[in-house]
Amino acid sequence: MKILLAPMQGVVDQQMRRFLTDIGGLDLCVSEFIRVTDRLLPRRVFRRTCPELLNDGCTPAGTPVTIQLLGGVPEIVAINAQRAIEMGAKGIDINFGCPSKFVNRKAGGAVLLKEPKRVQQIVAAVREVVPDNIPFSAKIRLGYDDTSLTLENAHAVEAGGADSIVVHGRTKKEGYRPPADWQWIARIRASLTIPVVANGDINSLDDYLRCREISGCDDVMIGRGVIINPGLVQQIRQFQMGASHSSVTWACVIPLIETMLLDGITAGVADCHIVSRLKQWLRYLKSHYHEAQRLFDNIRTLNDPHQVQRLLHE
Ligand SMILES: Cc1cc2nc3c(=O)[nH]c(=O)nc-3n(C[C@H](O)[C@H](O)[C@H](O)COP(=O)(O)O)c2cc1C
Repeated sequence: MKILLAPMQGVVDQQMRRFLTDIGGLDLCVSEFIRVTDRLLPRRVFRRTCPELLNDGCTPAGTPVTIQLLGGVPEIVAINAQRAIEMGAKGIDINFGCPSKFVNRKAGGAVLLKEPKRVQQIVAAVREVVPDNIPFSAKIRLGYDDTSLTLENAHAVEAGGADSIVVHGRTKKEGYRPPADWQWIARIRASLTIPVVANGDINSLDDYLRCREISGCDDVMIGRGVIINPGLVQQIRQFQMGASHSSVTWACVIPLIETMLLDGITAGVADCHIVSRLKQWLRYLKSHYHEAQRLFDNIRTLNDPHQVQRLLHE
């Protein structure tokens, strides 16, 4: 009954992985994607996306971080996977779900779902360089425009030799529009032998239970749900242990916000970037905490992290 933290470009970085794995209950994180095109990337690119490589590939809480690669040329994806492993990655994941027009135009992400053969070639090339003791997965959507190739793509991932597959229950065309189709994930699960991880629209304990029941999957991946409510995974774990639920209150989130500001200031990040990153998180948090809406309104026009800090203390 694993719970994985979803990769989210520009949202789930090292700091967010630290916050969320410190709270507990997550089994694995997947990094933001590293896009590979026509060459072996320098080591610094891997360290920038996954600074945890300097900590044995794990967050400070000890949760392993899988490195996600995105690219359409099998040999190139493979040599970069090999580099990630040499650098200590705790797992490799291939992105077949990114809907970005830019990425898709360069033959990476969801557009590859139009070519199941190529999906299999990429997975097989990476399989050759990933040792058996390193988990190797692929993350797909249900398709590009429609679901006509869904099962073919899922089989391509299995035939290519991946250890598991993560399925985001939507096509590229559906973007992020709810609801994710957990029934389709069940069809995939029924036709594969490798473990299938269900992903999409798990925003509450009830969603978690229903997603597992409908998809039949033991393991799930959660993205936005845990950014909106950082206590969600803890709540699921407490439910599974039959313990009473202690929620992550707004008072618990405030120190994380302060840390976010302080880390940015210490690292010399530009003021406006520090504050805009916080505003981005508040936009998610306000769905769960009404206090986040208030804070967002109060800092809407600010760009100086020191001013935001003062406001937090008031
Ligand atoms: C802002 C944002 C960035 C994302 N970045 C990635 C990414 O880098 N790699 C990837 O495989 N999926 C990415 N996704 C998709 C998520 O991993 C996940 O599949 C999707 O959000 C559905 O899960 P959720 O409903 O639990 O958020 C991203 C989604 C969002 C909203």
